[in-house]
Amino acid sequence: MGQASIGTPAVSTFSPDHVTPVDHQLLVEMTGISKRFPGVLALSDVTFDLRAREVHALLGANGAGKSTLIKILAGVYTKDAGVIRLRGHETEIRSPRHAQELGIATIYQEYNLVPDLSVAENICLGHLPKGSSPLTKFIVSRQQMNRHAERILRDLQVDISPTIPLRRLGVAKQQMVEIAKALSLESGIYIMDEPTAALSSKEIEELFRVTRSMRDRGCGVVYISHRLEEVGMLADRVTVMRDGRCVDTLAAENAPTSRLVQLMVGHSVERAARHPGCAPGAKLLSVDRLSRKGIFEDVSLDICEGEVVGLAGLMGSGRTEVARAIFAADRADSGEISVRGKPIRVKSPNHAVREGLCYLPEDRKKLGLVLSSSVRDNIILASLARFCRFRIAGKGIWLDQHRIRKEVVERVKSLDIKTPSIGQFVESLSGGNQQKVVVARWLCSSARIFLFDEPTRGVDVNAKSEIYSLVRTLAAEGAGILLISSEVEELVDACDRIYILRQGRIVAELLRDEISKEAILAAALTGTTGEDGGRHRTQKEDL
Ligand SMILES: Nc1ncnc2c1ncn2[C@@H]1O[C@H](COP(=O)(O)OP(=O)(O)OP(=O)(O)O)[C@@H](O)[C@H]1O
Ligand SMILES: [Mg+2]
Repeated sequence: MGQASIGTPAVSTFSPDHVTPVDHQLLVEMTGISKRFPGVLALSDVTFDLRAREVHALLGANGAGKSTLIKILAGVYTKDAGVIRLRGHETEIRSPRHAQELGIATIYQEYNLVPDLSVAENICLGHLPKGSSPLTKFIVSRQQMNRHAERILRDLQVDISPTIPLRRLGVAKQQMVEIAKALSLESGIYIMDEPTAALSSKEIEELFRVTRSMRDRGCGVVYISHRLEEVGMLADRVTVMRDGRCVDTLAAENAPTSRLVQLMVGHSVERAARHPGCAPGAKLLSVDRLSRKGIFEDVSLDICEGEVVGLAGLMGSGRTEVARAIFAADRADSGEISVRGKPIRVKSPNHAVREGLCYLPEDRKKLGLVLSSSVRDNIILASLARFCRFRIAGKGIWLDQHRIRKEVVERVKSLDIKTPSIGQFVESLSGGNQQKVVVARWLCSSARIFLFDEPTRGVDVNAKSEIYSLVRTLAAEGAGILLISSEVEELVDACDRIYILRQGRIVAELLRDEISKEAILAAALTGTTGEDGGRHRTQKEDL
């Protein structure tokens, strides 16, 4: 199958030999699929199909059952009921390995990569190229492996060296490696579970190009995304799921966004109106000429009480790195940070929390959640002191379980976190619901300065507007918020002021009336906001 071409560069990456060039042949038919997890009916009598030469989008709110459905197709979960036919033949998909052999490749929402292996090793994992002679056939050929990985990365037009360890790459690049890994299998059926959640607009365009080329060569692609505008750009058909059921399947041209949203949530959702803005209070956080060699330089910014301040910029511009340095998750080389006018030297994230700061990271799995703990424990993690009844020196603390329960249940309800109980382990929640747990944790804490890094990544439309209205509520209660987001429209709607970061420097600051999508993009791409509007920061080399 797909592995046949490993190490034989004559075969093109995207021309699977086993795809019949019959237009729109049914590749996958899933009928009557049901799946129950303890306490949850994740799928109930779901029907879904995929044809050759199509991108079939799968939509639905957080917890609707999308990932569960495709994990059944990918051999990760076994179905409780239903039938799967592949190219007309009824098939039991026994394991992920078996799915690969059947020509099904998956790009997951949560990456499945090994940080300590090289990029090439990750791409070829599970199908390492071996030598062809009797002597060398048990030996993994590193050279062939690197060449193979390099070819795929080149086809993807991404600039990643195959030999560097994966852990040295940022989230977006890791996602590209995950995509390259799936492409290297040369399958006929591709499944992409939120592939663009961590990508910049340029990388998304690249991904779309590759996806279209896979379709044109006869493959079928199942495409899961919460970014509805992508559906119109890429998909041929759309299936909407709600609460573990299939609601409808439509041709993409008959599926305007408003209709899709209605199908997803069962009612229409208005785009949040731009908030009216309010006069900022006293200065909460001041960052003065913060620098980290080679990453960002001379970053100065202020956040006042009651303000939502955006930090915009392209992927790789240094947004996350600045937030991490403010929170002392990374070391800064120079610069000063003051909280309420008092200079502080933040030594560690713990220290930052004591100073009233909190940071919600973009990579929730690595930095945000204790997956093997319950929803309740994850939510109260940053606010234990608040629930402490009394402390026994050297022995531990006595927590007020009744208050914890009350508060956690309230948060779970207000953010609509889909979980059978607050005692459920976080690892069994859907991706978007895990993100909501991280948000709930910081909303519970007594922090006054919030650094939110992509808080709505992987979160559905409904929850997005809930998270933003909570951000506004926090600000109205006197908190100061730094909001990092790749979704420019959301920044426009939510922020009072926006700093724009480009190549590690703040190049512009937009005040409320100057904020527009065009101005943000212009500054992020070129370093200027156009004729007027925005206070340009003079770069050091211009001085
Ligand atoms: N391994 C598991 N154990 C227990 N429950 C699970 C497990 N995996 C998923 N679930 C539950 O099944 C339901 C469907 O989850 P699924 O991950 O398929 O949702 P999703 O549509 O992909 O959502 P999202 O958009 O948030 O990724 C959720 O209620 C989830 O909590
Ligand atoms: Mg999912």
